This record gives sequence, structure tokens and C-alpha cells, in this order.
Amino acid sequence: MSRVAGKVVLVTGAGSGIGRATAKLLAAEGATVIVTDVNRPGGMETVQQIGGRARFEEQDTSKEADWKRIIDDILAREGRLNGLVNNAGIAGPFPSTFESETVEQWQRILAINVQGVFLGCKHGVPVMRQSGGGSIVNLSSLAAFLGTPDLSAYGASKGAVRQFTKTVAIDCARKGYKVRCNSVHPGVILTPMGAGIMPNDKAKERVRRSIPIGDFGAPEDIAYGILYLISDESRFITGTELVIDGGMNAI
Ligand SMILES: NC(=O)c1ccc[n+]([C@@H]2O[C@H](COP(=O)([O-])OP(=O)(O)OC[C@H]3O[C@@H](n4cnc5c(N)ncnc54)[C@H](O)[C@@H]3O)[C@@H](O)[C@H]2O)c1
Repeated sequence: MSRVAGKVVLVTGAGSGIGRATAKLLAAEGATVIVTDVNRPGGMETVQQIGGRARFEEQDTSKEADWKRIIDDILAREGRLNGLVNNAGIAGPFPSTFESETVEQWQRILAINVQGVFLGCKHGVPVMRQSGGGSIVNLSSLAAFLGTPDLSAYGASKGAVRQFTKTVAIDCARKGYKVRCNSVHPGVILTPMGAGIMPNDKAKERVRRSIPIGDFGAPEDIAYGILYLISDESRFITGTELVIDGGMNAI
């Protein structure tokens, strides 16, 4: 019940799926959680489910002005930031091959999935340093390791998150910032996004059969990995990749 006691943690995109499960688990383990999302009703619902030690702020993670406002607000209200989960992301329309993808779609996916993570690290690290150190978890994907013909921009964006995470990790470590940075790589998880890439029962069954462990992951399966990386239990871990995928990346 107290693996992250006393920590202030910001979870982006916490109005749904993995972000919501993560915010709830972090709060249950003693953190004060700042829930942000572009989806106000979803974010408010997460805060209500937590029932204390959480508050909601509307934030578009692709916008630098939103990051400045959120971080200033945290400094004014909580006075510190110890953890940041860059979880907000979109998959875009399914399927989208490199031949059908439009430039507008490509840019939108990269603006949220990559620029959003970059801005989170850029604006999160200084306040974490001021707070005596911290831990950043960036949500990448199994897609960072494999070709994703039906999600071309999404796969590219998650590959970028995987690489950028290591850059932040090494830069912070070498500069003595006491800020760790790791990426988490979910396989197929049953969330609104996960359901969006399996348009019918037949497709769902085909995907299920491709998972060595025999079933889809739940948002909580990812939340437990994030909890570990945010907690001090992982104090010697930075720049690593935590794959949580039922074995898909091992075949
Ligand atoms: N579900 C999966 O199978 C799966 C697999 C691999 C990686 N992931 C990654 O995990 C993360 C969470 O995915 P999920 O499955 O919970 O998705 P989800 O769609 O259930 O939730 C994503 C949340 O992010 C929010 N969001 C979208 N754009 C935003 C923006 N610009 N600013 C702030 N919030 C924004 C949405 O409103 C939503 O509440 C994503 O980064 C996703 O790419 C998911």
C-alpha cells in the first residue's frame, strides 16, 4: 500500500485505459496523482474512481503551452514532482499503411506520440531536479520492435519514443540529475485503443492466438510495471525497455 508513498506523479492520458489503471494503482500505493487528458469527462471519472489524493487538469500533451501551465500549476500547488508517466497517445485510423497514410495524419500521430513525450521530458526534468530527483516512464509499444504495416505512423512514433528515452536517460545520468527515464512496451492490451485495432471477433481471435501466453493483457498488467519503474525499487534502472506483452516479442 505504500510503494510510492509521498510521491507526486503526473500521468498523462489518464482518462482511459492504461493511464487510468496506472493513476489508480499509483494512488493506491500512496502517491498524489495529477491526472491529465484532453478528455475532461474521462479524466474526471478517473479522479472520482481514485476518490482522494488526485486531481484533474485538461492538457493536450502535444502543446508546449499546456506543459508550461501544468508544470507551473504543480509547482504552485504540490510544490514538487517526483514521477512523470508520458502515457497519452493515439493509434490513428486502422489500417493505415505507409501508402495510404496522409501527411496530416502522420504529423498528428507524431505530434502527440513523440513531440508530447519530448515536451514532457523537457519540462518535467527541471522540476524533478528541483524536487531532488525523479522517474520518467514513457509509453512506447511492442510496435517499437516490429514492422507494423497497418499502423505505419504509430510504429514509427513508438520507435522514436524507445530511442529518445535512452537519450534522456543517459543525458540525465551523466549530468548527475538523479532523474531516471525508462520505456514501457505493452503488447495487445484491452483498452479502447487496443479494441480499435481488432475491428471484429474474427480479428480479435486471430490476435489472441498469436499471443504466446494465450490472452490479451489488461491495463493493470502495464500499470504494475509502471509502478515499479516510478518507485524507488527501480533506483538502479535507467534507459531500459520493459516489455509487457505475453511473450509476443520473444517469438
Ligand atoms: N492498448 C494497447 O494495446 C497498447 C499497446 C501498446 C502501447 N500502448 C500505449 O499505451 C498508451 C495508452 O494507451 P491506451 O491503450 O490506454 O489508450 P486509450 O485510447 O484507452 O487512452 C489514451 C488516452 O490518451 C488521451 N489522449 C489522446 N491524445 C491526447 C493528447 N494530445 N493529450 C492528452 N491526452 C491525450 C485520450 O483522450 C485517452 O484518454 C498509449 O501511448 C499507447 O500507444 C497501448
